Amino acid sequence: GCKSDKGWRGTPINELNRMPQCAPPLSHLKAVPNHTVAVRTDLLREGEVPVPYPTKFKDAWDDVSVKMPCSEKNLFPMETEDGGGVQSRWELIQTALQGGFKSSLDVRDAILRYNTAHAKRWDFTALNLLCTEYLEHCEVQHLFEVILPAMVDLALSAPRLCTMPIPLLKSRMNHSLTLSQEQIACLLANAFFCTFPRRNSRKSEYCNYPEINFYRLFEGSSPRKIEKLKTLLCYFRRVTQTSKSQTQLTHLHITCEGTIEDDGYGMLQVDFANMYVGGGVTGHGLVQEEIRFLINPELIVSRLFTEALEYNECLIITGTEQYSKYSGYAESYKWKDSYTDETPRDDWQRRCTEIVAIDALKYRNFLDQFLPEKMTRELNKAYCGFFRNNAHSKHLSAVATGNWGCGAFGGDTRLKALIQLMAAAEAGRDVAYFTFGDAQLMRDVHEMHTFLTERQVTIGQLYTLLNQYSSVVCKNCLTTRPDVSLYSFIYERVSSATPTNVPDSAKDSG
Ligand code: AR6
Repeated sequence: GCKSDKGWRGTPINELNRMPQCAPPLSHLKAVPNHTVAVRTDLLREGEVPVPYPTKFKDAWDDVSVKMPCSEKNLFPMETEDGGGVQSRWELIQTALQGGFKSSLDVRDAILRYNTAHAKRWDFTALNLLCTEYLEHCEVQHLFEVILPAMVDLALSAPRLCTMPIPLLKSRMNHSLTLSQEQIACLLANAFFCTFPRRNSRKSEYCNYPEINFYRLFEGSSPRKIEKLKTLLCYFRRVTQTSKSQTQLTHLHITCEGTIEDDGYGMLQVDFANMYVGGGVTGHGLVQEEIRFLINPELIVSRLFTEALEYNECLIITGTEQYSKYSGYAESYKWKDSYTDETPRDDWQRRCTEIVAIDALKYRNFLDQFLPEKMTRELNKAYCGFFRNNAHSKHLSAVATGNWGCGAFGGDTRLKALIQLMAAAEAGRDVAYFTFGDAQLMRDVHEMHTFLTERQVTIGQLYTLLNQYSSVVCKNCLTTRPDVSLYSFIYERVSSATPTNVPDSAKDSG
C-alpha cells in the first residue's frame, strides 16, 4: 500500500517552466517567406476577430497548396444531352448545402450530391442514430434550425474567409502557418460537409496526407462515433454562436397612415437618399428625398460640401427647420402653404430634427437585390445610418422610416423592411414604419415581426435565412420574380422543425 505515500516522484511540478510566465516577449507577427500569415497583422486587436488577408480570394490550384473547395478549378463531371461536360463543383456544393436540412438524411443527400462517386460506399448511420436516438427533441431542433444552417454559412464563407492559399507543409520543409480561429472554423465546417476535393480516396495525390473530410465519422453505429460527433457539434455550436448575432428584433410600430416628417418627429428620420445627397432636388427629381429637401431647404446646403456617399457611409443632418407644407407626390406635388415649425430646440439651439441620408441601391432586375452581396450592402448601409457609437439603447430615438429604396430605386418593400428591422435591432433602436398607404404591407410586415419575435429568431438566423432564400429560390429562378415569396420561405423554414402555429396568411400566400 502507498496510502501515506505521495503520488509523484522527482522535481516538484511547480518547479517546471510553464507558459506564458517563462516566455520572452513574442516578436511582432509578420509574414516572411517561411511563415504564411492568413490575417491582417496590422489590424490585430484584442477581442476582435482577425481580418482575413488578402481581401480577395487568391486561387491556387497547384501542388504546393491545399486545393480549396471554392477554387474555380474544382470541377465536377456532368451528364448533358450532348455527352459530358464539367460544372463548377463549388456551385453544386452551394446549391446542395443551402437546400435546407430537415433530417440527417437531408444532410447525407446534400453531401452525396457533390460526392456522387462515393454514394454507394459512404454510410451515415452514426449521424442518423445521433439525431433519431441520442439527442433530445429540442437538441435535434436546435441542430437543424440553428447549428447546421450556421455551419453551412460558415463553410460557404470560404472564399471570403480563407483567401490566402494554404501552403502544404510537406516533408523536409520548414514552414509556419498562422490562421485565425474563424478561418479554422470555416475549414472544419468544409471538412464536416466533405467538400475538400481529392481527399476522399487514399489513392489520390494526397495519399501521404491525413484524412480531412469527415465521412468516416458518420459511419457505423459505434457509441464512440456518437460521442465524437457530439463533441465536434459542440465545437460547431460554440463557434457559430460567437460569429452569429444573437440580437433579437426591437419594437415595431407600423402604420399605413402618416409620413416620416409629420409623425416621426423626435425620431431618427430616414432620407431615402441618392449617393449624391439631395438627388434631383436642383434638377427634375420630386420624390421623398427631393420633397424633404424642398420643405426643409437647409438640407440643400449639404450638397455644397458632401462628397458622394460610399457603401459604408451615411450623412446625419441635425437641426433643419420645415418652412413649407405640401400635398401630392411626384407628378401631383403641390406647394400648399407656409409652415411654422414648432419643433423644440436643443442646447445648441438646433431644431430637434435628426435626418439621416442613406442611399439604397437601384435595381433594374428585381432578382438582383436578393444576391447575398447586395443584401449585405443594404444591411451595412442601414446599419451605418442607425448605429451611434458609445450610445446606450435607452438614449437612442426610434428610427422613422418606410419604403426605403422601393420607389425610384425599384427595391422590394418586404425585403427592405426586414433589412431595416435587422439593422435597427443591431443598432439597438425601435422602428416606426410608414407604409405610405399600403395596408397589405402593414399587415404583412407586422405579422412577420410578430412571428419572428415570438419564435425568438435572432438577427444571425435571419441573415442565414436571407442567404438561403437567395440560393434556394432566387439563384435558379428563370422568371423575373421569385416563385416563392421571401416571407413564405421564412415562415416555412422557421416552422419546419417546430410544427406549430403558422400565421394563416403564410399558408395560402405566394
Ligand atoms: N414618408 C414615408 N414614406 C414615403 C414618403 C414620406 N414622406 N415619401 C415617399 N414615401 P423614393 P427610393 C414612400 O422613390 O426608391 C430620389 O431621387 C413611397 O412609398 O423617394 O429610395 C433620391 O434622390 C415611395 O414610393 O425612394 C434617389 O435618387 C417610397 O417611400 C432616389 O429617389 C420610396 O421613395 C431614391 O429612391
